[in-house]
Amino acid sequence: MDKKEDLLKEVISHAKEYGYVFPSSEIYDGLAATYDYGQLGAELKNNIKNYWWKAMVQMHEEIVGIDAAIFMHPKTWKASGHVDAFNDPLIDNKDSKKRYRADVLVEEHIEKYRDKIKKDVAKGLKKFGESFDETQFLATNPNVKRSQEKIDLLESRLKNILETDDLTALKAFIEELNIVCPISGTANWTDVRQFNLMFSTELGSVAGDAATIYLRPETAQGIFVNFLNVQKTGRMKIPFGIAQIGKAFRNEIVARQFIFRMREFEQMEMQYFVRPGEELKWYAYWKEKRTKWHKALGLGDAYYRHHDHVKLAHYANAAADIEFDFPMGFKELEGIHSRTDFDLRKHEELSGKKLQFFDPELNKSYIPYVIETSIGLDRMFLAVLSASLKKEVLEDGSERTVLSIPPALAPYKVAVMPLTKKDGLPDKARAIINELKFSFQCQYDEKDSIGKRYRRQDAIGTPFHVTVDHQTLEDNTVTIRDRDTMQQERVSISDLHKIIDEKVSLNNLLRHGG
Ligand code: GAP
Repeated sequence: MDKKEDLLKEVISHAKEYGYVFPSSEIYDGLAATYDYGQLGAELKNNIKNYWWKAMVQMHEEIVGIDAAIFMHPKTWKASGHVDAFNDPLIDNKDSKKRYRADVLVEEHIEKYRDKIKKDVAKGLKKFGESFDETQFLATNPNVKRSQEKIDLLESRLKNILETDDLTALKAFIEELNIVCPISGTANWTDVRQFNLMFSTELGSVAGDAATIYLRPETAQGIFVNFLNVQKTGRMKIPFGIAQIGKAFRNEIVARQFIFRMREFEQMEMQYFVRPGEELKWYAYWKEKRTKWHKALGLGDAYYRHHDHVKLAHYANAAADIEFDFPMGFKELEGIHSRTDFDLRKHEELSGKKLQFFDPELNKSYIPYVIETSIGLDRMFLAVLSASLKKEVLEDGSERTVLSIPPALAPYKVAVMPLTKKDGLPDKARAIINELKFSFQCQYDEKDSIGKRYRRQDAIGTPFHVTVDHQTLEDNTVTIRDRDTMQQERVSISDLHKIIDEKVSLNNLLRHGG
């Protein structure tokens, strides 16, 4: 794929064409920022979950997994701070009636200066060719320096406004910058208001008795409220972790960029409970460990970078994002947070129940400190899909589209294809599948020419393609084609299991990323 901005479009259309991701309730024209995973998407999603669960839970004696309810007692969200502070500042354009995140409007305005710098760099490269020194150019070119100064100034003013929650100043800032609505082209803005991102509903059927409850905006709180249950029933000793995979819901004002930002999404979170004072050691440990988990997939180390937070949330004493180079640029894929004892302490206060651990070595009780690792499953899915989708020009000049998904995550591991639909070849192919299906997700494929079938399997990311031909009936050998190298080899049917397993086994990933 040549142009990065085209890649997201390609990913969306490829995902739909091959049954990975569909717009939700598409027959009714879809629902904004909501997507359904199709037959291949559900498999890929399950494989990602499995990789995470095995690496985090099964490879760690001291980490256990739970599955808490989506609905929780409303006080949970008071304690966690979500009722009072889980807000985004929103603004409406009175002419187009479109709603925006006020801070994002300013950020997008600032982005224009970044684009200007990129254009200046491209011009410099064109002018000076190989002798172009980008670092020196960025440090000395007057146009670039002017743009950078503007970026720094605007960013620091935005930061001050957001830190003081000054919504009047935010509106005045938007007006001062002459930011207009991209739809109506006018600056006819409403005041800026805070908008709580939690979805609420009512519990119970009698209106008067109904209590407001929320769809959880993160899975983490299901872990905190179960801290003592798990610690006591599992006889867990500090340090230990509790992991969970599940749905979370946020009424995002600006929900876009496909499955990157949705209103209903899935998180894979782990809270690691440690001794107070040891949290920064464990924070560094988990930051490195989670980075390894990502890199073990082999998508390429250049796809990842760390973004250490300078401005910390009031409950955190260290935080970093593992960012991924998505088609829209580097963005947060996973967060690693040192959350101190904030959540357990707040739950202790509001519930009146002690949430402490008696440490026999120290001979005292304390509220443990927490390191959190939190990754969005849908973002991980987008990362895998966008880094895997490739268009290749072959030696004969023809093109192929290949989805080089890491083999352990691929929906189908092997496609078995009879060369023709006659002479008993389909029966032989099915007999092979009947043996392999205990270990691998297999697909039987007999439609179209063999070349077209190879292309289709390349496009859906199947790592191995086995062809059954007339020779198979004589000597029990088949050809096996590798998705990535396109090399074909004649092998004995009895060797298939070993050959496939060597490449697709999750153990390969777990050895490096577990
Ligand atoms: N418990 C901590 C927490 O929820 P967060 O940074 O708000 O932290 C964690 O979310 C991860 O969840 C993010 O790194 C991202 O991968 C994913 N995520 C958050 N909001 C999302 C959304 N609207 N759509 C898809 N994924 C989202």
